[in-house]
Amino acid sequence: MRGIFRTFSALSTIPVLVFAVGQVQAPADAANGKRLFEKDGCYQCHGYAGQGGRDGARLAATPLAQQAFIRYVRRPFGAMPAYTSKVLSDQELLDVFAYVKAMPAAKPAADIPLLNHLRDR
Ligand code: HEC
Repeated sequence: MRGIFRTFSALSTIPVLVFAVGQVQAPADAANGKRLFEKDGCYQCHGYAGQGGRDGARLAATPLAQQAFIRYVRRPFGAMPAYTSKVLSDQELLDVFAYVKAMPAAKPAADIPLLNHLRDR
C-alpha cells in the first residue's frame, strides 16, 4: 500500500515539472534578433546600425530595460507603428532587444576627429 502511494506521489509531480520547464524562457538569440530587425523593417526607420535618424530614434545600446522595450514596441506613442504579438512574439522581441542592446553606442563628439578639427579652426 505504501509502495502504491509512493508511486502515485512520484507520478503526480511529473506534470508539475513539465509545467515549470515550459515557463523557462529560452535565452535571447541576438543573431535571430538581427534577422527580425531586418525582416520586420525596424531598420527602415532606425537604421541598420540602430543609429536612428529622421524617421526613428537611436536604438543602438538602448538604455531601455527589456520589458520597457517590449512595452514600447507593442504600444508606441509617436510616429512608430505598433507591432502586435502576432507579428513579433515576446521571445522574438527579446531577441531583437539582445541585438540592439549589443550594438555599439554612439561615440562622444570629442572622439570624432573631424569635429575636433572643425572646432579648433
Ligand atoms: C515607420 C518607422 C518605424 C519603424 C518601421 C519602427 N520604428 Fe521604432 N520608432 C520610430 C520612431 C519615429 C520612434 C520615436 C518615437 C515615436 O515616434 O514613436 C521610434 C521609437 C522606438 C523605440 C523607443 C526608443 C526609445 O529610446 O525611447 C523603440 C524601442 C523602437 N522604436 C523599436 C522598434 C523596433 C524593435 C522596430 C521593429 C520591430 C521598430 N521600432 C520599427 C519609428 C519606427
